[in-house]
Amino acid sequence: MTAPVRIAVAGLGTVGAAAVGILRSSRELVAARCGRPVDVVAVSARDRNRSRGVDLSGCAWYDDAAAMAAEADVEIVLELIGGEDGIARAVCERATAAGRHVVTANKALLAHRGRELALAAEETGAVIACEAAVAGGVPVVKALREGFAGNRISRVYGILNGTCNYILSTMRQTGRGFDEVLAEAQRLGYAEADPGFDIDGIDTAHKLAVLAAIAFGCEIDFSGIHVEGIRQVTADDIGYAEELGYRIKLLGIASDTGDGIEQRVHPCMVPVDAPLAHVEGVFNAVVAEGDAAGIGMLEGRGAGAGPTASAVVADVIDIVRGARLPLFTVPVSQLRPARTVPIDRRTGPYYVRLTVVDRPGVIADISAALRDEQVSVESLIQRARAPEDAVPVVLTLHETREDAVQRALARIAAIDMVVKPPCMIRMESP
Ligand code: HSE
Repeated sequence: MTAPVRIAVAGLGTVGAAAVGILRSSRELVAARCGRPVDVVAVSARDRNRSRGVDLSGCAWYDDAAAMAAEADVEIVLELIGGEDGIARAVCERATAAGRHVVTANKALLAHRGRELALAAEETGAVIACEAAVAGGVPVVKALREGFAGNRISRVYGILNGTCNYILSTMRQTGRGFDEVLAEAQRLGYAEADPGFDIDGIDTAHKLAVLAAIAFGCEIDFSGIHVEGIRQVTADDIGYAEELGYRIKLLGIASDTGDGIEQRVHPCMVPVDAPLAHVEGVFNAVVAEGDAAGIGMLEGRGAGAGPTASAVVADVIDIVRGARLPLFTVPVSQLRPARTVPIDRRTGPYYVRLTVVDRPGVIADISAALRDEQVSVESLIQRARAPEDAVPVVLTLHETREDAVQRALARIAAIDMVVKPPCMIRMESP
């Protein structure tokens, strides 16, 4: 066997330590699959003295991860620090400038700086590999960039955030409200103390931006994504969804519409007989629709030390085997413009929950608003009877363009007897 491949690891948190652990404990397996041994020879993290449960003997320690990326005598740098800017970005920039390959799990960095990083890497012949950035241990990057390479992909979508999927699944299974389930998820370590990135849809949007660029070979366009999170989903909505034959999932959806790329992240009602409806708890799943292969779906663990480190090590093995794939499927000069399609052109069915005072005429006023905007009702549920109290009215709307729905909802919100802002959830047929 030839000389070992030398690797530096920037960031020794859960994923970094697990990646070093796999590379060391499975050294022979990795060497057999690479044709060369792979050795971690340099590491960098914030706290040198912290115990990480992994053997770092023989590794040079760097206090400055960016200096390590530029100076250490290595072929590959693992960037496992995270964050869209700062030291993570410096590590990737300095490693690629020095011609070193980079393996990163950093979706925020790629979503915001992917184009410039890809270009910088191309200039020196370095590779940036990012399997761990999307859906953790689920090999969706490989599936889209290699497995579906002979397809025109029309749509890629999925459950990309385990925290949200855990919260929505648990709300459905227990009938409990959002705040209570979020607090439990935080206690169990499934949600961060500051959960905003996850529950407001931002983490899903970062991953979707990367997936869309890879699937469509287009410019990465995080700012073009319509993003809504799950804070407003209530136990009532989940109950009505169940009654209508749906489950509520936070999906990231990217479609090539022919006029441009539509990218959106929001809670969706998914028919209960769709495979995505049965992806529960912290699991992730991604579906791609190719013109030759048809529909393919991958499901698995999207976060956590083992699954994410598994994806990191897979990228290392690919690079050592000689894979030199462009980050976003094609070289930067050949990326299509993203040409964002705005959300108000989305066409599909809708679920709407209104809170109204139960008096004669309220349904007539709601119907008039819908009629005036040419929005057609498919079903209406109103069971409670409480003349002085507000009651829910649940509508499902036939396939309609979103701008018409939004105009109708604005009119409905202005009706005196409608006492809370309307809640709208898009219905999808994945
Ligand atoms: N917090 C993410 C999730 C994992 O819940 O899926 C890292 O992106």
